Amino acid sequence: MTQHLNVTAGAGYAVIVDANCWQTLPDHLAHIGLQGRVHIVADHHLAEVATQLQSACGATTTLLMLPGGESTKDYTTLMQIYDHLLTARVERRDVLVALGGGVIGDVAGFAAATTLRGIACVQMPTTLLAMVDSAVGGKTGINHPLGKNMIGAFHQPRLVLADVSLLKTLPQRELSAGWAEAIKHGVIRDAQLFADLEQADPTKAFFDADLVRRAVAVKVEVVNIDEREQAERMLLNYGHTVGHAIEQLLGYGTLLHGEAIAIGMHIEAQLAVTLGLCDAALVRRQQQMLQRYNLPVALPAQLTADDLLAVMQRDKKVDAGQIRWALPRRIGHAEIIRDVTLDTVRAVVATNVSA
Ligand SMILES: NC(=O)c1ccc[n+]([C@@H]2O[C@H](COP(=O)([O-])OP(=O)(O)OC[C@H]3O[C@@H](n4cnc5c(N)ncnc54)[C@H](O)[C@@H]3O)[C@@H](O)[C@H]2O)c1
Repeated sequence: MTQHLNVTAGAGYAVIVDANCWQTLPDHLAHIGLQGRVHIVADHHLAEVATQLQSACGATTTLLMLPGGESTKDYTTLMQIYDHLLTARVERRDVLVALGGGVIGDVAGFAAATTLRGIACVQMPTTLLAMVDSAVGGKTGINHPLGKNMIGAFHQPRLVLADVSLLKTLPQRELSAGWAEAIKHGVIRDAQLFADLEQADPTKAFFDADLVRRAVAVKVEVVNIDEREQAERMLLNYGHTVGHAIEQLLGYGTLLHGEAIAIGMHIEAQLAVTLGLCDAALVRRQQQMLQRYNLPVALPAQLTADDLLAVMQRDKKVDAGQIRWALPRRIGHAEIIRDVTLDTVRAVVATNVSA
């Protein structure tokens, strides 16, 4: 019997992480009382599963297949989904199922949030990153030419159904990028998860539904405490202040999000040491773990400390001119830290810049 995780935000919903469970979608929809038509928006890598799901959900089920990848998360795709739903005469009682990675989840979730002022959404994440992070918590949206994730809404799904067996076709690099978020969850909140990830075989661990579920559980716990990212949820930003700056300077798509976050975690852990929050052993242990999961820790050569600092100061996490840092005190515990001077940050970043 699978243990369900429960998110209390929105109408409250179950997060199911298991192996070979995608076929159970129609039963779950019936169980939570979603009786309208089903509209599946699927990543084209999941074409076979999507087609079978369409048959399983009944004759009136519609299917729209889209490519994954960041360039899909834009206004043009959003209009394509609206066109599809409105042409199919979508009704308020219908449900949109997002079957794909974080990109499909975000853009289709935003379409669900805004079509007919909001229809039900079910997230079926198919990348490790989407399982561990983006499918839970209700953040949806698209990118704008002036910035990533700049247009969006909170729209909690009615169910998250994550089937780890769908990960077997995911490229190795994408898997590693997903592990970055799982490792982050261990650092900020679950020392035992971190220790178990250290023991696990990185090439097989994604088949371990229990391990993936425990990584998802950290996200669920944090979202339950803080649905709208006022306080606790900011802990999930560990590695992201530096990571986002790296992504923005290199241009999105050069590094995968999880890869940039891994470098960000390496530098932000050093910041925590400099501030006296934790000792240097944490940096070494975390570095070994990141490298074990094939993640980078070195800043790409072309980046300078000045460029990184300039971008960080424009970050969404800046409040009254100060960056709010999520930093570890030990493995399994992080805190939000303000009052970090730019000179301190610059000094830490500078030691990571190639000569
Ligand atoms: N909403 C949130 O809270 C939140 C949190 C973190 C990240 N995100 C967003 O998530 C996005 C990144 O998500 P992602 O890394 O899943 O990217 P993605 O959705 O682009 O998927 C990565 C690649 O894997 C392919 N793919 C997906 N599932 C597959 C499978 N089972 N087998 C083979 N290939 C498969 C996709 O087509 C794509 O090429 C970013 O846009 C980021 O902003 C959102």
